Amino acid sequence: MNVTQLILHRFDPERIHDQSVHFGSFIGKFKSLRWLLEKTFGFENDKLQVSLGNLDFPNPIGLAAGFDKNGEIVPVLQAIGFGFIEVGTVTPMAQPGNPKPRLFRLKTEKAVINRMGFNNNGVDSLVRSLAKVSKRVPVGINLGKNKSTEISKAAMDYVIGIEKAWEVADYFTVNVSSPNTADLRELQGEEFLKPLIDAVVEKREQLKIKTGQYKQIWLKIAPDLENSELEVICKAILESNIDALVISNTTTGRRQLSEKWKSEPGGLSGKPLFELSNNVLEQAGKLLKGNIPLIGVGGISSAEDVKTKMSLGASLVQIYTSLIFEGPGFVKALKKDLLNTQHN
Ligand SMILES: Cc1cc2nc3c(=O)[nH]c(=O)nc-3n(C[C@H](O)[C@H](O)[C@H](O)COP(=O)(O)O)c2cc1C
Repeated sequence: MNVTQLILHRFDPERIHDQSVHFGSFIGKFKSLRWLLEKTFGFENDKLQVSLGNLDFPNPIGLAAGFDKNGEIVPVLQAIGFGFIEVGTVTPMAQPGNPKPRLFRLKTEKAVINRMGFNNNGVDSLVRSLAKVSKRVPVGINLGKNKSTEISKAAMDYVIGIEKAWEVADYFTVNVSSPNTADLRELQGEEFLKPLIDAVVEKREQLKIKTGQYKQIWLKIAPDLENSELEVICKAILESNIDALVISNTTTGRRQLSEKWKSEPGGLSGKPLFELSNNVLEQAGKLLKGNIPLIGVGGISSAEDVKTKMSLGASLVQIYTSLIFEGPGFVKALKKDLLNTQHN
């Protein structure tokens, strides 16, 4: 390996991410190191608590899906102060995802483009990991379909996810919006969405009767929707027992980006997504009229951004890209700023 390759290799964003997860998984095994993390990054205040149905959140800042795909670092994520953690996306069978490179950091834009394609170790592995964790905040499992599953049979993959992960999940998110699995976003359309929702809700009812436990089901949608498409989604949700709508996943749009990145395929997250995801959040809020809780995701990089999402109707928020740029202390900083601005 020559020097250039070595540098590229060392600073390859996916490699950095994988190494962080390995490191986090190692740290998470030791009580003393978790304690140290918590001493450094932990910060809670009763004023930040939020309840949503049967779930209580110590604070409204959640980790968005895709960061801990296999549920390997939940103890560390708890220690750095997330109010809830969404692991996954997980699919019934393990799969490698798309060819590399597939993760790009856009430093100037404070954004990321990814086309990971649901690389994950499969739901059985995720369940084994989570079974070992002593949970202190709600842990949700984000579900997807395998690449090899035909779109017409996709509902079965989500049902398998719910059935297998039932015991270890506090809630499920049905992800129909990642742009990197061919056809997945079609599941948001009229033809597939209602049957998919009916199938997962029916499985939840069966398991509720069997176990006496209720698990919320959230639906995560794309920011690249026409009004008419959003209307279809909101109508389907109002007619069903979906517990919350997560808005949004990454965008396939490339507004405001330099030429260099315009043609890089994948989902764009971070700052350039903020306004777009807010527009969909606002629109969904109007259509749902407060009947379904909303989770605001996309481009959050300050407490002000969190408050903007909340003013548009979000009860909780999630972050991903800002964690990459700002590091683990960002969760504490956000919470402190949120509290300070609450007082003003
Ligand atoms: C590298 C990467 C991988 C992601 N993987 C997933 C995923 O597996 N499932 C999912 O629902 N969202 C995934 N997302 C989307 C995030 O959960 C989130 O919706 C999006 O990044 C917008 O939030 P942000 O601007 O704070 O990053 C991923 C995002 C990134 C950057």
